Amino acid sequence: MPAAFHNAARPSCSPARPRMDAAAADRVPSQVGYWLLLLAFMALPVLAQTPAAAETPDDPAAVAQAEYDAVMALTPDPENGRRVYLTCAVCHLPEAWGSTDGTYPQVAGQLRTVIIKQLADFRAGNRANPLMYPFSVPSILGGPQELADVAAYVAQLPMTPHNGLGPGTDLALGESLYQEHCVDCHGPEGEGDMREHIPALAGQHYAYLMRQFEQIASGERRNADSKMTEQIQGFTAAEQSAVLDYTSRLRPPAEKLAPDGWTNPDFPSFVRDAAGIRAKPPAPPK
Ligand code: HEC
Ligand code: HEC
Repeated sequence: MPAAFHNAARPSCSPARPRMDAAAADRVPSQVGYWLLLLAFMALPVLAQTPAAAETPDDPAAVAQAEYDAVMALTPDPENGRRVYLTCAVCHLPEAWGSTDGTYPQVAGQLRTVIIKQLADFRAGNRANPLMYPFSVPSILGGPQELADVAAYVAQLPMTPHNGLGPGTDLALGESLYQEHCVDCHGPEGEGDMREHIPALAGQHYAYLMRQFEQIASGERRNADSKMTEQIQGFTAAEQSAVLDYTSRLRPPAEKLAPDGWTNPDFPSFVRDAAGIRAKPPAPPK
């Protein structure tokens, strides 16, 4: 229940009620009865709806959790995931490497459970982003099966060997902060945690990490982990930059990295516009 509801002005003690005269007291029951009857009729349709409305979970976190559980129970089909990924490639690129300036995150090689949770969160409104939201809705992305499929496809893509890095000026400080505040959840190599759907951070673009960290610290990212929010309270701007610079330099395991100059053969005729305006990719071969 929203805090405002609890905080609604409630006088601590009510003033003594003035006495009514006998005639007025006589009129009260009939008037009260009339108004009660009228109210009951007006309330009927509302009352009839109440049980159904109460069963509908409209808490975004609960909706997202229910979808996460549904998706996790399915067997993913990465081949269909490739077809679904066509829409995503417009922004995340066919390699799913995003952009080094952090506008688009690298999603290639991210843990499958993390991709599922983030997509479920976006479409339930548990994580807000105006670019991502319209592409997460069922009419574009599809239902739980398509979500499972695209997550499986993205998770197995090799990662960029050249992600965006920080300035490299405070790496010793960054390492000690990481060891003290992050390692328990995100892992010694920034590998994340599949079971707990904690994101892998290794190889992610520094600018993207900076933006997410800020949104988590400020509470703007609704799905933030409350224990993480506690850990990062009081981080100065210099400490934030140092720890994320260090994090962006954590290397994913060699077998997860693509060779230099790799392009995704699943999208052979994807047009990359030199002017920076990305053309709509053609359909992948069937
Ligand atoms: C219009 C551009 C656009 C399209 C199309 C798009 N995305 Fe995104 N996506 C973004 C942006 C921007 C973000 C970062 C959001 C933020 O900053 O909070 C993002 C974030 C994500 C994340 C969260 C990554 C993380 O580590 O936090 C996942 C997963 C993701 N997208 C998957 C997909 C998939 C799968 C599709 C296709 C169904 C898709 N995206 C289509 C723009 C797009
Ligand atoms: C208590 C566990 C915990 C700790 C400690 C923690 N995190 Fe996180 N972090 C998470 C979880 C869980 C998420 C994903 C939340 C969600 O969206 O479900 C996350 C998300 C993130 C993200 C966004 C990643 C993405 O792809 O969207 C960044 C960046 C991040 N953490 C950095 C850090 C750094 C740096 C530290 C240490 C200073 C840290 N975290 C400490 C649990 C933790």
